[in-house]
Parts: sequence; structure tokens; C-alpha cells
Amino acid sequence: MGKWWKQSVFYEIYMPSFKDGNGDGMGDFAGIIAKLDYLTALGIDGLWLTPFYPSPKIDNGYDISDYYNIDPGYGTMKDFQSFIQEAHKRDIRVIVDLVLNHTSSEHQWFQDSKSSKNHPKRDWYIWRDEPNNWESFFGGSAWEYDKASDQYYYHAFAKEQVDLNWANPQVKKAMFEVMKFWLEKGVDGFRLDVINFLKVNDSYKDNPYDAEKNEQNHLFDKDQEGIFPIISEIAEFVHQYPDKFLVGEVGSEDLDILKQYSGNNKLDVVFNFNIGSLGEFDADKLFQQLVDTDQAYDHAQIPTLFFSSHDMSRHISRFGGGEERAKLVATLMLTAKGVPFIYYGDEIGMKDWITDDITKMKDVQGLLAYELGIQSNQSHEQALAVANDKSRDKSRTPMVWSSHPNVGFSTILPWITIPTNAYKINVENQQNIPDSMLSFYKNLLKLRKGHSSLKSGHYDLLRIEGEMLYFVRKDSIEKILVVLNFSEHPKSLDVAAFFASDVKMLLSSKRTKLESGNLVTILANEAMILKDDGGDDSVKKRLCSNL
Ligand code: GLC
Repeated sequence: MGKWWKQSVFYEIYMPSFKDGNGDGMGDFAGIIAKLDYLTALGIDGLWLTPFYPSPKIDNGYDISDYYNIDPGYGTMKDFQSFIQEAHKRDIRVIVDLVLNHTSSEHQWFQDSKSSKNHPKRDWYIWRDEPNNWESFFGGSAWEYDKASDQYYYHAFAKEQVDLNWANPQVKKAMFEVMKFWLEKGVDGFRLDVINFLKVNDSYKDNPYDAEKNEQNHLFDKDQEGIFPIISEIAEFVHQYPDKFLVGEVGSEDLDILKQYSGNNKLDVVFNFNIGSLGEFDADKLFQQLVDTDQAYDHAQIPTLFFSSHDMSRHISRFGGGEERAKLVATLMLTAKGVPFIYYGDEIGMKDWITDDITKMKDVQGLLAYELGIQSNQSHEQALAVANDKSRDKSRTPMVWSSHPNVGFSTILPWITIPTNAYKINVENQQNIPDSMLSFYKNLLKLRKGHSSLKSGHYDLLRIEGEMLYFVRKDSIEKILVVLNFSEHPKSLDVAAFFASDVKMLLSSKRTKLESGNLVTILANEAMILKDDGGDDSVKKRLCSNL
């Protein structure tokens, strides 16, 4: 049977924005519990929860001030435990986000570390007499001056997110205890935040400048030597608990880097930003990344498939092409080789939000960009444009459950703006409409569940012809052809080239019936999934590539 996660579809819940259960305008565990039946009906297998631990929420929970509790805004430990129980009752597994790289500056460890140069915890964080040129990923210097001790501390993100010193064995020990605590609470694994950042180069050499990208090249502050033994130790520790899953956020689009983090004795999978963070839509580039990944990975490695997250623009807005293209992308994500991660709201086609009012912006990255813009004499309009570009608020607006006040998310105004045009794209409207985005997702998930080759088959073929991307997934039981016509023109496909017997259509994003005959017209922007009709399954492979 293999490992459960290899067959699973995950769904990312951005904690503050999924469902408010207690009427304070922010998502919480009570809200998620109330929506578990919705998630069951959708057909997902696993949930990834963004951080829910106590936090001053400078970065919405990615700044943890206590690793052993639940933020009161999200509920109590009891609520957490009933959530885990209720999810497990429905066969939904739960992985939780864990930030091992940094803590909130309000965490007691940092308060101790900061209290004196001689405090035993001084070395739990990275202190230096002089800063180097390393830049924070949110902008500005990555070093913050502490007047009291006349030293600088390192923060790869906001200054309130202080990097731990993983060269200190006590830090590692403390974090392993944290992992043990949550594993024993019944979580099924972790999403490890910026896990390739745990080690920095202890020469503290300046980072070089990348003239092509016009930005700093983070050569010495991530993916450093020494990271892999730590990764293996984490993996070994977590995998002592049977069936636990580790997905790492390795913030890199470089396959040569990505591929080093997963596999035997390493993380189970990493996020494939090489596929997922494609900026503008480009079918050829997308195809090339799928091929390159498939070739780069060994048999113990599986890619992940995602196109939206709480850190990026939603693919429906980023890629253009409206619902039609979004359905193609969904089909790719749920039928290509990899572990899919659906981002909440994508299943109804929620769109990005851009604000024209800086006072409404919540994301620290956007706000810092605005501040830096104004400091460097940009006009308000220029600074706002840059801030909107950097801000991750765009994909963090409340889940649109209905067209009721506050989109059925909360009884009061939520913590973040509800875009004025958000109301019409909602769960309630789409529930019983056969060709809605939501129904399409449900159909795709159901189809995937019932077909082993879509969950674990290899690629028997993977090709693109004039923006029509297609692949065959095959295992010992069946063979399925997925055709994604990303072009604006209909294309003709000779299905006899793939199947010896008659062919049946399992799903299309545009129709319910297939015309008879071997030549099938794949409409512009149509996704179609085909299978042989149960006859001889031998392949003619007239169009086969060597994959
Ligand atoms: C990861 C998270 C992001 C956060 C950052 C710092 O990239 O996904 O939301 O801001 O780490 O913790």
C-alpha cells in the first residue's frame, strides 16, 4: 500500500481566514471543526494548518512566542484536541506548520538571550559585534542593533522574527522536544517553515549582488553546508513515530538544491517552487519544469504540486485566463505526478485582493516595502504599488462561504478586508451547480480517489504540442490519459494512438459527453481525462516520448 501521504491530497488552511467560530473576526479551531464536513465532501485527505501557537502575530503566527500552547484567538488546547479527533474520525490527517528557524522576539528564550551577554541563552540566537550586508527577505538589513549590549542580532525575516542559532546543540534539543510534544498530541506530521535557512555560513561573508536580478544573491544565509545532517536528524527523529510526514519549505526554485532535501533519511517531500511559483502563465515553461523534475528526482522522491499559497498570488489571478484556465491548472495539480496541496478558496475560484488604501494592508512584508519606499523618497502611489506587489494579503482574504454579511465567514467584520467583489464567488452558490469550480474540484478529487494510476502511477508519456500538454499515467492496473489544452484553439487528438480499445471520457472541464470516433476535438482551454473502455490495454505508443 505504501505511505499514506503518497496518495493524499492536502488542503492548506490559512488559520486566520478560513472560518470564524467565535465571532471575533478571525478564523479558529471551532470554525474549522464546523467545516470538516465541507472538507470531507470536497474529498481532501489531509490538512496543513498555518501556525496557531501564541504569537504577537507580526507575521500572522510565523513569529511564535510559545511553542507549547494555542493562541487564545484560535481557541484552547481542548479545541485543538477535539479538532484533531474530529478530523481523524473523518479520515482526514493533519499536518501542522512548525517554525524552527526563528522565534518571536517576545519568546522567553529571546528575552533571556537579550537580557545579558553572559546569559546562558545568549548563544541561542545569532549575535555579532558588527553587521554584514545580509538583507532580510522582507527588505532592509537582516541585523538589528541592540543598544543595551551594543551588538546586533540576526533576523532573516522581520526584526520581530529572530533567527535561532542551530549551531548550538541546546537549540536543537529544545526544538526536538517541541516536535515530540505535538507528535504526541496526535498530529500526522509537520510543514517545516523555511527549513533550508537553519544554517548560516559562519564566515559571515557578505552576500554578492546579482546584477541580472538586481537584488542580493543569498549565497551565505541559506542552503549552507551542515544543513543536511540536521535535516536527516529531524527526519530520523520524526520518523521514529510511525507514519509521520514531513514536508519542507525550501525557498528555492533551483531543482539542484530542492532535490537534495527529500528522499530516504531526509524530508518526505519539499515544496516544488520550481513548478509552483511560475509567475506568468507559460505552458512550455510549466511543461519543462514537470519534465526536469521528473528526470532529476530518483525513485524515492516525489514532487509536490501547488500553484497558490498564503505567500503568493492565487493562480487564477496570477495566470489569467479566468475559470477555464484555473480548471486546467486544477486538473494538472490533481492528476500529474506529485503530492498536491490545494490552497483554501482556490476550489471556488477566489481571486486576489489588491488594496488602494495602505491603512488596510496587514502583511508585514507589504508594510515594510511601503515604509522602505517612502524612506527612499518614492511617492505614496509608487510605494503603494510596490507594497501591493510584495504584500501577501492578496491571497489571505476570508473564505467566501456565502453571500451573507461578512461572506458567511464571521458575524463581525473580519481581521482583513473582504474585497467588494468577493461575495459572488462563494461556496453556497456553487454547491449544486454541476459546472461550477467547486463541483469540478469535487469531481476531480473523486476521480483521483478511484484511480490508482492517478495517485501512484508513473508517467508513461509526458508531452506538449502547441500548448496542449498531455500525459499518460500508468500503473499495473490501468492507464489514464490527461489532456490539457492550454491554447486558445481547438486541437485534434487521435486517441487510438494511446489506447488499443475504445476510449471513455472520465472527466472534461467543458462537456459531459465525448463524440464517437478516434479523432477527438479538444476544445480551447479544455481539460479532458480519458481511459480505455476496459478492453485490451496495450499501448500503441505512436506518439510516445522516451520518458
Ligand atoms: C515562510 C512562510 C511565510 C513566513 C516566512 C517566515 O516562508 O510561509 O508566510 O512569512 O516563512 O516565517
